[in-house]
Amino acid sequence: MNKWIKNLLFILIIISIYNLFEGCSINSNETKEIKIGITLYKQEDPFISFVAEAIEECAKEKEIKGNYKITVNIVDAKGNLTTQNNQVDKFISQDYDVICVNIVDRTAASTIINKAKDADIPLIFFNREPVEEDMQLWNKVYYVGADAEESGRLQGEIFVDEYKNNKSFIDKNGDGKIQYVMLEGEPEHQDSLIRTDCCIKTIVNNDIEVEKLADDTANWQNAQAYEKMTQWINEFGNNIEVVFSNNDDMALGAIHALENANIDIKNRPIVIGIDGIPDALYQIKDGNMTGTVYNDYKSQGKAILDIAYSLAMFGNTDYLTNITNENYVKTSYKKITKENVDDYIKKLK
Ligand code: GAL
Ligand code: CA
Repeated sequence: MNKWIKNLLFILIIISIYNLFEGCSINSNETKEIKIGITLYKQEDPFISFVAEAIEECAKEKEIKGNYKITVNIVDAKGNLTTQNNQVDKFISQDYDVICVNIVDRTAASTIINKAKDADIPLIFFNREPVEEDMQLWNKVYYVGADAEESGRLQGEIFVDEYKNNKSFIDKNGDGKIQYVMLEGEPEHQDSLIRTDCCIKTIVNNDIEVEKLADDTANWQNAQAYEKMTQWINEFGNNIEVVFSNNDDMALGAIHALENANIDIKNRPIVIGIDGIPDALYQIKDGNMTGTVYNDYKSQGKAILDIAYSLAMFGNTDYLTNITNENYVKTSYKKITKENVDDYIKKLK
């Protein structure tokens, strides 16, 4: 073979191998578009809005690095399962590569899974975990979230540490027992009951006596928590020593109620949340909140985008190492108190 042709062939082979690894088409001018559809159970839920933001940021970063366009279309189901089903139908009819679902009703995932399976479009559920049976309906169904038990345990540990250091401040009536109220998330959410249970168990296992004054759902919501807390302040006055909340947004509602009731900071119960959203970090910094448990929305957003990208590009997730055999990714929680809150505030900028 002519030497010139040989050289040309060699160069062509190198270019094809390079393109294969880059995941691009041979024609480098042709931009591949990846379409990711995301439906949120409720966009106004602050924690969920941070997960969505994290997904968008990761998509932008990936787009800058590669030769492809990543379209992330986020829609809001506003707490309505029928709306959400219609949104999924639309993504399917528009031939999206991957659909991500923050499902309104976690017990009703099978309808969505069967539709996606028929259209062969992979699904990534996140934050609201479908029941195991449904997860097993198809091997292209993934779940990204975190382990509720861990968050409850860490919330309990924050309390235990604080109590050991500040017994007389926390146990205001000095009876050796902790009078508490518990603000709970939606009753049917996998996180609510488990967080409540694990938090209290951790405290009791540390030989601290507790007395529950009240517990009730405020459905993760600030405004509902404000109402509940106002009611409890009227009912129990200064007898409340601790407010545990299944999430930060409700903890912030409780703080608002305490402020509104004009209870002096020295006489207020301590408040501990879960999530680590920015407003809660600032309340910890200001001394109005004792602590929270970081629910790593940035890593969750990244995991969702990585899975979606990998499925769209390669049709599998083989090179991702953080996924279990059953297609789960669970990020770990971290404690945040006044000792380390600055590290988290710094990361916001
Ligand atoms: C929880 C989170 C809550 C709320 C809920 C929605 O994991 O802690 O703040 O966002 O998810 O499903
Ligand atoms: Ca007490």
